[in-house]
Amino acid sequence: SGESKDYKYLILGGGNAAGYAARALVAKGVGKSEAAIVSREEVAPYERPALSKAFLFADPPARLPGFHTCVGGGGDRQEPEWYEDNGVDLILNEEIVSADLGDKKLTSKAGTEFGFDKLVIATGCSPIVLSKLEGADLKGIHYLRENADALQLYDSLHARKGEDVLVIGGGYIGMEVAAAASIVGCKPKLIFPDSHMMSRLFSPSMADKYESFYKEKGIEFYKNGYRCEGFVGDEDGNLSGVKVSLDGKEEVIPGKACIVGVGARPNSRLFTDQLEMELGGIKVDGQFQSSVKDVYAVGDIAAFPLKIYDRTTRMEHVAHARQSAAHAVDAMFDDSTPDYDYLPYFYSRVFNLSWQFFGDSVGEPVVVGDIQPKMSVFWIKDGQVNGVFTESPSAEDTEVMAVIARERPSVDVAKLSALTDPDEALKL
Ligand code: FDA
Repeated sequence: SGESKDYKYLILGGGNAAGYAARALVAKGVGKSEAAIVSREEVAPYERPALSKAFLFADPPARLPGFHTCVGGGGDRQEPEWYEDNGVDLILNEEIVSADLGDKKLTSKAGTEFGFDKLVIATGCSPIVLSKLEGADLKGIHYLRENADALQLYDSLHARKGEDVLVIGGGYIGMEVAAAASIVGCKPKLIFPDSHMMSRLFSPSMADKYESFYKEKGIEFYKNGYRCEGFVGDEDGNLSGVKVSLDGKEEVIPGKACIVGVGARPNSRLFTDQLEMELGGIKVDGQFQSSVKDVYAVGDIAAFPLKIYDRTTRMEHVAHARQSAAHAVDAMFDDSTPDYDYLPYFYSRVFNLSWQFFGDSVGEPVVVGDIQPKMSVFWIKDGQVNGVFTESPSAEDTEVMAVIARERPSVDVAKLSALTDPDEALKL
């Protein structure tokens, strides 16, 4: 303790955005030990989306170093040697516990001080933990964010083949982990209060198609009012079930493994008193500059101007993590870098399905086709397409969808609604 290190460029956090920020800094030609990553994780930055997918069910499962950044964005696989070779100090297992932005200094739990000229905050999010519920400390309750969590979840699922596995939350994590658990051979039960899964993006009729697909795979749903009220366990402290309620009536759904995916919160605690905040994240401009000079924020933590829709947003998605990191580094080196102009893009893969979405899910969704073999959905407001979704898109569809979402063309809704072939609809 008491050690101190100074960097020209300091990246706080070692996740998806950090890996891409390091790559961008190296491309700018930073000198040896001018840049560093400080991360509390024990591994170099990686493509986090893998953790709820091939990491859990593939045979053999995806494991590091296979998915270090920047393989997902078509770049080098940055193993620790890459950082060494490129002169970026990769400081792992180091949690920052205090920040003094006026003094340009961060301090770690171990007492090391990190000085910086320019700071990139890329601390991401942490899962919302149901810590206040009865039985919250029982063994067998999982959350999923980091490599270490995924290793534990993997062991837990593979130890429970043929058994019930309880999945709480009907968003991305719930949907993907339920699919993974099913592929592994567990019997997943999905529990969430909303009327349908992926309720922030899917319309009821879209969700219905995915839910039918899930039911055919043997996945059971406890939805539409079902709330998780607590966890029950045995005398050894192991989970034995989840207590749920529906309309005030309680019941226990048995299961020895449970994964909770009920959302995430930005890791902003260190900065709430020193930086302007918005939407729970750090407010930045179109160059990812925070309210304090030389302090940038990227990835999940950044509340940024979404130029295309003229509003401030936070995006908990990997495409934004990658692009925002590269953009912030560009802006650091060149004041005339244009403002970030991001087109929202979401995707997910479950079983043999995979979907992509571009744009804004505002307006009335018009569904064309079915999830097998292919389905497109168009969100239409005032005759214009605002968002477009395709299940099982081709590479060409992906390009077309991005153009549609950018240009927001007018369409004949009656004509579109009458179509049954997504390929025709995407050409309209
Ligand atoms: P990220 O969470 O990646 O990194 C934050 C880093 O900061 C971590 O290394 C953390 O340990 C570190 N840190 C935080 N506080 C610290 C401190 N005080 N000191 C030191 N280090 C600290 N997106 C998508 O578009 N498609 C998908 O399919 C998926 N799938 C998916 C699955 C799972 C399981 C998760 C958890 C997330 C996804 N996502 C996704 C979301 C995507 O992974 C996410 O948007 C990016 O990881 C965000 O990158 P960041 O770098 O902002 O945060």
